[in-house]
Amino acid sequence: MVKASYEGKPYRKILMNTWGASVYPSPSNRTEAGKKILAADPDSPGSLGIAISEAVELAFQDENTKYALGSVLNHVLMHQTVIGLEAIKQLEQAGDFPDVIVAPFGGGSNFAGISFPFLRYNLEEGKKIRCIAAEPASCPKLTRGVFRYDLGDTVGMTPLLPMYTLGHNFIPAPIHAGGLRYHGAGAIVSQLLKDGLIEAQALKQLECFEAGIKFARTEGIIPAPEATHAIATAIREAERAKEEGVSKTILFNLCGHGHFDMGAYEQYLSGKLVEHEVTQEEILASLAELDTPVIS
Ligand SMILES: Cc1ncc(COP(=O)(O)O)c(C=O)c1O
Repeated sequence: MVKASYEGKPYRKILMNTWGASVYPSPSNRTEAGKKILAADPDSPGSLGIAISEAVELAFQDENTKYALGSVLNHVLMHQTVIGLEAIKQLEQAGDFPDVIVAPFGGGSNFAGISFPFLRYNLEEGKKIRCIAAEPASCPKLTRGVFRYDLGDTVGMTPLLPMYTLGHNFIPAPIHAGGLRYHGAGAIVSQLLKDGLIEAQALKQLECFEAGIKFARTEGIIPAPEATHAIATAIREAERAKEEGVSKTILFNLCGHGHFDMGAYEQYLSGKLVEHEVTQEEILASLAELDTPVIS
């Protein structure tokens, strides 16, 4: 488990322990990949890219262990489209249709899941649904990364993929939206963004938690910090529609609950949650380490 999440979400670890799993913070001393990262930075908060390297390395060593990537790869994005297909049916029943679709963005699976089935209406029927990926300002690969071939993990166990990326060595700040702390974006989503068929926005975590609290108080559901990025973006879009004096149907993906993120909510409610945005120098330094081709 990524160290930042291991420390920030202790009850998720205990849930896994309850079902018999042993959980170790990544980077760990249990893999060559982890040892390499720790040698360079003993206090590394980890990243999804590092955790993937460690998991793939362990899976290679045991023929009974399989590794399943949770996001990014095209087949995973397509698999998740059941979410959008269901949303189409639900909206049919409600007699409505979205003008704007929003989903938080880590590697792309929940965003692709809800938006891809609707994009078909844009591509085939000339509809103009805006599909917005909401990413953290601490890990903004879609809004501030480059489109080029890069690795899906930090150490290089995965093949090169064409993607918007901040560089596979990029270590995002330990923000609470752990699921969005990934350096790259899925290939299909990246190409769609490059072609101007989808949009992306970056948000800082205080705006997101404010939106999460508002949602919890109005809907009775505490959203995951990842999901608050979509909620905050939906609120931005609703405010914009209000200013323009138009009525819009905004569909967003509530990708998870925040029951294991009470520590983060406690920090926000006690005024201790700090704002963070990655600097341009940090992004350029990470990208400078890449030697793979930029895609024109
Ligand atoms: C609750 C939640 N939402 C969103 C994400 C982001 O991943 P993806 O962009 O693949 O949906 C994650 C990833 O772990 C997550 O845990």
